[in-house]
Amino acid sequence: MIDLRSDTVTRPVPGMRRAMYTAEVGDDVYGEDFLVNELQEKVAGLLGMEAGLFVPSGTMSNQLAIRSHTQPGDELICDYNSHIFNYEGGAPALLSGVQLHPLDSEHGILNLEQISAALRPKDHHFAQTSLIALENTHNRAGGVVFPLPVIEEISTFAHEHNILMHLDGARLMHAVIASGLDPAAYGEQFDSVSLCFSKALGAPIGSVLSGSTTFIDKAHRFRKIFGGGMRQVGILAAACLYALENHVERLAEDHYRAKQLALTCQALGVLEHDLAWTQTNMVILAFPDGDAARWESELKKAGLLVSAVNDQRIRMVTHLDFDDDQLRNAKEILKKTIG
Ligand SMILES: Cc1ncc(COP(=O)(O)O)c(C=O)c1O
Repeated sequence: MIDLRSDTVTRPVPGMRRAMYTAEVGDDVYGEDFLVNELQEKVAGLLGMEAGLFVPSGTMSNQLAIRSHTQPGDELICDYNSHIFNYEGGAPALLSGVQLHPLDSEHGILNLEQISAALRPKDHHFAQTSLIALENTHNRAGGVVFPLPVIEEISTFAHEHNILMHLDGARLMHAVIASGLDPAAYGEQFDSVSLCFSKALGAPIGSVLSGSTTFIDKAHRFRKIFGGGMRQVGILAAACLYALENHVERLAEDHYRAKQLALTCQALGVLEHDLAWTQTNMVILAFPDGDAARWESELKKAGLLVSAVNDQRIRMVTHLDFDDDQLRNAKEILKKTIG
Protein backbone atom coordinates (compact mmCIF):
# COMPACT_ATOMS: atom_id res chain seq x y z
CA MET A 1 0.00 0.00 0.00
CA ILE A 2 1.31 3.47 -0.89
CA ASP A 3 0.43 6.00 1.78
CA LEU A 4 0.09 9.62 0.67
CA ARG A 5 -2.48 10.70 3.25
CA SER A 6 0.02 12.87 5.10
CA ASP A 7 3.72 13.43 5.70
CA THR A 8 3.13 12.45 9.33
CA VAL A 9 3.00 8.74 8.45
CA THR A 10 6.79 8.32 8.13
CA ARG A 11 8.67 5.91 10.39
CA PRO A 12 12.04 6.71 11.95
CA VAL A 13 14.88 5.51 9.69
CA PRO A 14 17.61 3.22 11.15
CA GLY A 15 20.06 6.12 11.64
CA MET A 16 17.43 8.07 13.57
CA ARG A 17 16.59 5.05 15.70
CA ARG A 18 20.30 4.60 16.46
CA ALA A 19 20.57 8.24 17.51
CA MET A 20 17.57 7.75 19.81
CA TYR A 21 18.94 4.51 21.26
CA THR A 22 22.31 6.00 22.11
CA ALA A 23 21.00 9.38 23.33
CA GLU A 24 22.35 10.61 26.66
CA VAL A 25 19.43 11.95 28.64
CA GLY A 26 18.64 14.08 31.68
CA ASP A 27 15.55 15.54 33.31
CA ASP A 28 14.31 18.31 31.03
CA VAL A 29 11.96 19.75 33.65
CA TYR A 30 15.19 20.59 35.52
CA GLY A 31 16.64 21.88 32.22
CA GLU A 32 19.22 19.07 32.40
CA ASP A 33 18.61 17.25 29.17
CA PHE A 34 21.64 18.10 27.09
CA LEU A 35 20.14 17.11 23.73
CA VAL A 36 16.91 19.04 24.33
CA ASN A 37 18.99 22.11 25.16
CA GLU A 38 21.10 21.58 22.04
CA LEU A 39 17.99 21.22 19.86
CA GLN A 40 16.34 24.33 21.31
CA GLU A 41 19.49 26.40 20.76
CA LYS A 42 20.03 25.05 17.26
CA VAL A 43 16.49 25.76 16.06
CA ALA A 44 16.39 29.23 17.64
CA GLY A 45 19.79 29.95 16.06
CA LEU A 46 18.61 28.80 12.63
CA LEU A 47 15.67 31.20 12.86
CA GLY A 48 17.78 34.08 14.17
CA MET A 49 15.96 34.02 17.50
CA GLU A 50 17.16 34.08 21.11
CA ALA A 51 15.63 30.94 22.56
CA GLY A 52 13.62 27.81 21.83
CA LEU A 53 11.29 25.45 23.67
CA PHE A 54 10.81 21.76 22.87
CA VAL A 55 7.15 20.69 22.93
CA PRO A 56 5.30 17.51 21.97
CA SER A 57 3.22 18.86 19.07
CA GLY A 58 2.61 21.65 16.59
CA THR A 59 -0.74 22.31 18.23
CA MET A 60 0.84 22.83 21.65
CA SER A 61 3.49 25.05 20.10
CA ASN A 62 0.90 27.30 18.39
CA GLN A 63 -1.27 27.42 21.50
CA LEU A 64 1.65 28.31 23.78
CA ALA A 65 2.47 31.16 21.43
CA ILE A 66 -1.12 32.40 21.47
CA ARG A 67 -1.35 32.12 25.27
CA SER A 68 1.98 33.87 25.79
CA HIS A 69 1.39 36.72 23.32
CA THR A 70 -2.20 37.63 24.22
CA GLN A 71 -4.64 38.49 27.02
CA PRO A 72 -8.15 37.01 27.32
CA GLY A 73 -10.55 39.14 25.25
CA ASP A 74 -7.92 39.90 22.59
CA GLU A 75 -8.37 39.11 18.94
CA LEU A 76 -6.09 37.11 16.67
CA ILE A 77 -6.15 37.59 12.90
CA CYS A 78 -5.51 34.45 10.87
CA ASP A 79 -6.45 32.88 7.57
CA TYR A 80 -9.84 31.19 7.24
CA ASN A 81 -8.10 28.00 6.11
CA SER A 82 -5.36 28.07 8.73
CA HIS A 83 -4.57 25.10 10.94
CA ILE A 84 -5.09 27.29 14.01
CA PHE A 85 -8.67 28.11 12.97
CA ASN A 86 -9.65 24.69 11.63
CA TYR A 87 -7.79 21.89 13.35
CA GLU A 88 -6.87 22.87 16.88
CA GLY A 89 -10.18 22.11 18.56
CA GLY A 90 -11.14 25.70 19.35
CA ALA A 91 -8.10 25.89 21.63
CA PRO A 92 -7.55 29.69 21.39
CA ALA A 93 -11.00 30.21 22.96
CA LEU A 94 -10.56 27.42 25.48
CA LEU A 95 -6.96 27.97 26.57
CA SER A 96 -6.38 31.68 25.97
CA GLY A 97 -9.86 33.28 25.91
CA VAL A 98 -8.94 34.73 22.52
CA GLN A 99 -11.36 35.48 19.71
CA LEU A 100 -10.25 34.51 16.22
CA HIS A 101 -10.79 36.83 13.28
CA PRO A 102 -10.37 34.56 10.25
CA LEU A 103 -9.96 36.21 6.83
CA ASP A 104 -10.54 34.70 3.42
CA SER A 105 -7.46 34.45 1.29
CA GLU A 106 -6.20 33.29 -2.08
CA HIS A 107 -4.10 30.16 -1.53
CA GLY A 108 -3.59 30.93 2.17
CA ILE A 109 -1.73 34.17 1.43
CA LEU A 110 -3.18 37.02 3.46
CA ASN A 111 -2.25 40.49 2.23
CA LEU A 112 -1.65 43.82 3.92
CA GLU A 113 -4.81 45.45 2.57
CA GLN A 114 -7.16 42.89 4.11
CA ILE A 115 -5.22 42.80 7.38
CA SER A 116 -5.27 46.55 7.79
CA ALA A 117 -9.02 46.55 7.00
CA ALA A 118 -9.56 43.89 9.68
CA LEU A 119 -7.77 45.76 12.43
CA ARG A 120 -10.07 46.75 15.30
CA PRO A 121 -10.25 50.44 16.23
CA LYS A 122 -8.88 51.37 19.66
CA ASP A 123 -12.34 51.66 21.17
CA HIS A 124 -13.79 49.84 24.15
CA HIS A 125 -16.53 48.29 21.99
CA PHE A 126 -14.02 46.09 20.24
CA ALA A 127 -11.77 43.19 21.03
CA GLN A 128 -8.17 44.36 20.67
CA THR A 129 -6.18 42.87 17.82
CA SER A 130 -2.95 41.76 19.46
CA LEU A 131 -1.66 38.94 17.26
CA ILE A 132 -1.47 37.95 13.59
CA ALA A 133 -0.73 34.31 12.77
CA LEU A 134 0.48 33.26 9.33
CA GLU A 135 1.11 29.71 8.06
CA ASN A 136 4.10 28.74 5.90
CA THR A 137 3.88 26.46 4.06
CA HIS A 138 0.12 26.52 4.02
CA ASN A 139 -1.38 23.10 4.64
CA ARG A 140 -4.98 23.53 3.43
CA ALA A 141 -3.87 25.59 0.43
CA GLY A 142 -1.78 22.59 -0.65
CA GLY A 143 1.72 23.39 0.60
CA VAL A 144 1.87 26.92 -0.82
CA VAL A 145 4.92 29.02 0.12
CA PHE A 146 4.02 32.36 1.71
CA PRO A 147 6.05 34.98 -0.24
CA LEU A 148 8.59 36.77 1.96
CA PRO A 149 7.89 40.29 0.59
CA VAL A 150 4.23 39.96 1.60
CA ILE A 151 5.27 38.74 5.07
CA GLU A 152 7.63 41.73 5.38
CA GLU A 153 4.85 44.19 4.54
CA ILE A 154 2.47 42.60 7.06
CA SER A 155 5.14 42.40 9.75
CA THR A 156 6.18 46.05 9.39
CA PHE A 157 2.55 47.14 9.56
CA ALA A 158 1.81 44.88 12.54
CA HIS A 159 4.74 46.11 14.58
CA GLU A 160 3.89 49.75 13.81
CA HIS A 161 0.52 48.98 15.40
CA ASN A 162 1.94 47.08 18.41
CA ILE A 163 0.60 43.80 17.07
CA LEU A 164 2.73 40.68 17.41
CA MET A 165 3.40 38.15 14.67
CA HIS A 166 3.35 34.36 15.05
CA LEU A 167 4.37 31.91 12.33
CA ASP A 168 2.87 28.45 12.22
CA GLY A 169 5.90 27.06 10.45
CA ALA A 170 5.00 23.41 10.93
CA ARG A 171 6.48 22.90 7.44
CA LEU A 172 8.72 25.97 7.29
CA MET A 173 11.68 23.91 6.05
CA HIS A 174 9.69 23.18 2.89
CA ALA A 175 9.42 26.92 2.29
CA VAL A 176 13.15 27.28 2.96
CA ILE A 177 14.05 24.59 0.42
CA ALA A 178 11.53 25.75 -2.20
CA SER A 179 12.48 29.44 -1.91
CA GLY A 180 16.21 29.02 -1.31
CA LEU A 181 15.93 31.57 1.51
CA ASP A 182 17.67 31.37 4.87
CA PRO A 183 15.31 30.27 7.71
CA ALA A 184 16.33 33.46 9.56
CA ALA A 185 14.97 35.57 6.70
CA TYR A 186 11.54 34.27 7.71
CA GLY A 187 12.32 34.18 11.44
CA GLU A 188 13.25 37.84 11.72
CA GLN A 189 9.77 38.91 10.60
CA PHE A 190 8.08 37.15 13.51
CA ASP A 191 7.89 37.32 17.30
CA SER A 192 7.53 33.55 17.46
CA VAL A 193 7.90 30.61 15.10
CA SER A 194 6.67 27.05 15.53
CA LEU A 195 8.58 24.38 13.62
CA CYS A 196 7.54 20.70 13.54
CA PHE A 197 9.75 17.62 13.24
CA SER A 198 7.01 15.01 13.00
CA LYS A 199 5.81 16.08 9.55
CA ALA A 200 8.08 15.62 6.54
CA LEU A 201 11.26 15.78 8.62
CA GLY A 202 10.57 12.20 9.67
CA ALA A 203 10.83 12.34 13.48
CA PRO A 204 8.17 10.51 15.53
CA ILE A 205 7.27 13.53 17.66
CA GLY A 206 8.30 17.06 18.52
CA SER A 207 8.11 20.74 17.68
CA VAL A 208 10.22 23.70 18.74
CA LEU A 209 8.73 27.09 19.53
CA SER A 210 11.24 29.94 19.15
CA GLY A 211 11.24 33.61 20.11
CA SER A 212 12.82 36.10 22.50
CA THR A 213 14.14 34.93 25.88
CA THR A 214 11.30 36.75 27.66
CA PHE A 215 8.70 35.14 25.41
CA ILE A 216 10.16 31.66 25.83
CA ASP A 217 10.27 32.09 29.63
CA LYS A 218 6.56 32.82 29.53
CA ALA A 219 5.83 29.95 27.15
CA HIS A 220 7.86 27.63 29.40
CA ARG A 221 5.54 28.37 32.31
CA PHE A 222 2.46 27.76 30.16
CA ARG A 223 3.98 24.53 28.82
CA LYS A 224 4.10 23.33 32.44
CA ILE A 225 0.52 24.49 33.05
CA PHE A 226 -0.73 22.80 29.85
CA GLY A 227 0.90 19.54 31.00
CA GLY A 228 3.72 19.60 28.47
CA GLY A 229 6.68 19.37 30.87
CA MET A 230 8.64 16.27 29.88
CA ARG A 231 11.50 14.41 31.49
CA GLN A 232 14.17 12.30 29.71
CA VAL A 233 13.15 13.49 26.27
CA GLY A 234 16.65 13.71 24.88
CA ILE A 235 15.63 10.43 23.29
CA LEU A 236 13.18 12.44 21.17
CA ALA A 237 15.40 15.48 20.75
CA ALA A 238 18.02 13.10 19.30
CA ALA A 239 15.54 12.17 16.57
CA CYS A 240 14.87 15.85 15.82
CA LEU A 241 18.59 16.68 15.70
CA TYR A 242 19.09 13.76 13.32
CA ALA A 243 16.24 15.09 11.17
CA LEU A 244 17.77 18.59 11.05
CA GLU A 245 21.07 17.11 9.97
CA ASN A 246 19.80 14.58 7.44
CA HIS A 247 16.25 15.32 6.32
CA VAL A 248 16.12 18.97 5.33
CA GLU A 249 17.99 19.11 2.03
CA ARG A 250 16.20 15.98 0.82
CA LEU A 251 12.82 17.79 0.97
CA ALA A 252 13.62 18.82 -2.61
CA GLU A 253 13.04 15.16 -3.57
CA ASP A 254 9.55 15.32 -2.05
CA HIS A 255 8.88 18.49 -4.05
CA TYR A 256 10.05 16.84 -7.26
CA ARG A 257 7.82 13.79 -6.69
CA ALA A 258 4.82 15.98 -5.82
CA LYS A 259 5.34 17.85 -9.10
CA GLN A 260 5.42 14.55 -11.00
CA LEU A 261 2.15 13.47 -9.36
CA ALA A 262 0.67 16.89 -10.13
CA LEU A 263 1.61 16.52 -13.82
CA THR A 264 -0.22 13.17 -13.93
CA CYS A 265 -3.27 14.71 -12.23
CA GLN A 266 -3.17 17.66 -14.61
CA ALA A 267 -3.21 15.28 -17.58
CA LEU A 268 -6.18 13.48 -16.00
CA GLY A 269 -8.00 16.82 -15.55
CA VAL A 270 -8.23 16.54 -11.76
CA LEU A 271 -5.49 18.91 -10.56
CA GLU A 272 -7.26 21.62 -8.52
CA HIS A 273 -5.19 24.59 -9.69
CA ASP A 274 -2.51 25.46 -12.17
CA LEU A 275 0.69 23.42 -11.74
CA ALA A 276 2.40 26.54 -10.35
CA TRP A 277 0.48 26.03 -7.07
CA THR A 278 2.10 22.67 -6.46
CA GLN A 279 5.08 24.31 -4.78
CA THR A 280 6.24 21.82 -2.17
CA ASN A 281 5.07 18.35 -1.07
CA MET A 282 1.30 18.49 -1.50
CA VAL A 283 -0.96 17.86 -4.48
CA ILE A 284 -4.64 18.80 -4.40
CA LEU A 285 -7.11 17.01 -6.67
CA ALA A 286 -10.50 18.59 -7.37
CA PHE A 287 -13.77 16.67 -7.78
CA PRO A 288 -16.45 19.34 -8.39
CA ASP A 289 -19.21 16.68 -8.47
CA GLY A 290 -18.67 16.15 -4.75
CA ASP A 291 -17.54 12.53 -5.02
CA ALA A 292 -14.08 12.85 -3.46
CA ALA A 293 -14.89 10.19 -0.84
CA ARG A 294 -15.77 7.69 -3.61
CA TRP A 295 -12.45 8.37 -5.40
CA GLU A 296 -10.60 8.05 -2.11
CA SER A 297 -12.10 4.63 -1.64
CA GLU A 298 -11.47 3.56 -5.30
CA LEU A 299 -7.82 4.60 -4.99
CA LYS A 300 -7.52 2.70 -1.72
CA LYS A 301 -8.84 -0.45 -3.41
CA ALA A 302 -6.14 0.01 -6.06
CA GLY A 303 -3.40 0.37 -3.40
CA LEU A 304 -3.08 4.14 -2.94
CA LEU A 305 -4.08 5.87 0.29
CA VAL A 306 -5.04 9.52 -0.11
CA SER A 307 -7.07 11.99 2.01
CA ALA A 308 -10.46 13.35 1.00
CA VAL A 309 -10.26 16.65 2.90
CA ASN A 310 -13.85 17.48 1.99
CA ASP A 311 -16.37 16.21 -0.58
CA GLN A 312 -14.64 18.02 -3.47
CA ARG A 313 -10.95 17.78 -2.65
CA ILE A 314 -8.39 15.04 -2.25
CA ARG A 315 -4.93 15.72 -0.83
CA MET A 316 -1.80 13.71 -1.56
CA VAL A 317 1.37 14.42 0.42
CA THR A 318 4.85 13.19 -0.52
CA HIS A 319 7.35 12.33 2.22
CA LEU A 320 10.46 10.49 3.33
CA ASP A 321 8.93 7.01 2.91
CA PHE A 322 7.72 7.68 -0.66
CA ASP A 323 10.41 6.81 -3.20
CA ASP A 324 10.74 6.72 -7.00
CA ASP A 325 9.38 3.15 -7.30
CA GLN A 326 6.31 4.16 -5.35
CA LEU A 327 6.03 7.29 -7.49
CA ARG A 328 5.90 5.14 -10.64
CA ASN A 329 3.26 2.88 -9.09
CA ALA A 330 1.20 5.78 -7.74
CA LYS A 331 1.12 7.40 -11.19
CA GLU A 332 -0.05 4.11 -12.73
CA ILE A 333 -2.78 3.70 -10.09
CA LEU A 334 -4.01 7.26 -10.69
CA LYS A 335 -4.11 6.70 -14.46
CA LYS A 336 -5.89 3.34 -14.23
CA THR A 337 -8.38 4.43 -11.56
CA ILE A 338 -9.26 7.99 -12.61
CA GLY A 339 -8.27 7.95 -16.30
C1 LIG B 1 0.24 23.79 9.43
C2 LIG B 1 0.11 22.93 10.64
N1 LIG B 1 0.21 23.49 11.84
C3 LIG B 1 0.11 22.77 12.97
C4 LIG B 1 -0.10 21.41 12.92
C5 LIG B 1 -0.27 20.66 14.21
O1 LIG B 1 0.70 19.73 14.44
P1 LIG B 1 0.44 18.50 15.46
O2 LIG B 1 -0.34 17.50 14.70
O3 LIG B 1 1.84 18.08 15.79
O4 LIG B 1 -0.29 19.05 16.63
C6 LIG B 1 -0.23 20.79 11.68
C7 LIG B 1 -0.47 19.33 11.61
O5 LIG B 1 -0.50 18.74 10.57
C8 LIG B 1 -0.13 21.57 10.51
O6 LIG B 1 -0.26 21.03 9.30
